[in-house]
Amino acid sequence: MIILGIETSCDETALALIETRQSGGAFEVCILASLIHSQADLHSPYGGVFPTLAKREHEKHLQPLLDRLLASLSTRPQIDAIAVTEGPGLEPALWTGITFAEKLAQEWMIPVIPVNHMEGHIVGSLLASDVPDGTWQRLKDLPLPGLAFLISGGHTELVSIEKQNGGVTLVPGNPRMGSQRLAPAGLEGTIVTPPFCYTVIGATKDDAVGEAFDKVARLLGFPYPGGPQISKLAAKARTENIISPVKLPRPMIHSKDLQFSFSGLKTAVLYAVREAEKSGVLDDTLKKGLSREFEDAIIETLASKLRDALEETGAQSLIIGGGVSANNMLRDSFTAIAQEFGIPVFLPSRHISGDNALMIALAGALNSTPSSKLTAHGTKKLGH
Ligand code: KG4
Ligand code: ZN
Repeated sequence: MIILGIETSCDETALALIETRQSGGAFEVCILASLIHSQADLHSPYGGVFPTLAKREHEKHLQPLLDRLLASLSTRPQIDAIAVTEGPGLEPALWTGITFAEKLAQEWMIPVIPVNHMEGHIVGSLLASDVPDGTWQRLKDLPLPGLAFLISGGHTELVSIEKQNGGVTLVPGNPRMGSQRLAPAGLEGTIVTPPFCYTVIGATKDDAVGEAFDKVARLLGFPYPGGPQISKLAAKARTENIISPVKLPRPMIHSKDLQFSFSGLKTAVLYAVREAEKSGVLDDTLKKGLSREFEDAIIETLASKLRDALEETGAQSLIIGGGVSANNMLRDSFTAIAQEFGIPVFLPSRHISGDNALMIALAGALNSTPSSKLTAHGTKKLGH
């Protein structure tokens, strides 16, 4: 089966073409082509993603990107289906992808498969990082039950993964949480899509981790997306042995549940920056120190909740997904925790840690139920 993936949920316009097959009971994938056009520079002056600008840019770039994608192949393949992100994401941005997918599907007389963006981040981590495009690879086996930690600009979610079993929900949810209605958007409650059944067992009550990184970067005078810059300064602070004079909180670390909250942490940085500005000491050294302290606060908090979630679910594997998974400290810390628990960890290759269409095409192939009527499942706040 050959699938075209389309991703337009936020500020990346992305297309990918993959071929999949079942071989000896295993699911195999061959990446034929993948392209990403990032709009990050355009959104930089706004300090976050500006939805109508994102929509306009997606509209402008989808067709040229498709032409380039097809031109990169030696022969034009027979595409069997189109997988498109239907949410969560910015609604105007999502609609451009959906409309484009529907138009192509009509023209090519093939079905459209709606894909949940967060499921894309989960299954994308099961692709090997060292297999060149054009080569068949076996999708990595995921020992179940598994736990996914999705950390992006719009989401911070702990997701329990069970085997899909004829539409029956296997995971009762976290007894400590009381309710399954956790995430403002994303994999809400329990959804069942072959081959996995997902249950959100923890989520942020306010800002997502990537969003907190971006807001703190802005406070320190860096453009969107600021996560990579904060992480770079934090690494320099460690090398140069710079310690922040201000100790930041580790929010909800003792809350005895799997909920997160990062808005207070961002406010603590705001106060520290204001104080420093008043006393005229907001220099490069202080920025490095604050970045290090902020990154430590985030990772210590995430690590503590991750341990609790692994203990509670008895997960046999850990998947990390979402743009913040590019963060080196986070990768090292979570890999060490998985080792502590004696379970394998699946991290996305760096080139697909951010938004991409490869993961959407793959999720579409794994869950190939076409839909005749698509709706964008938007959220207003992704990326802000
Ligand atoms: O998954 P993603 O590409 O888009 C969303 O769906 O949100 O995630 C983007 C987020 C941004 O907030 C960006 O600042 C953050 O990922 N990010 C990082 C790093 N690289 C990207 N945050 C911290 N450290 C990094 N190295
Ligand atoms: Zn994403």
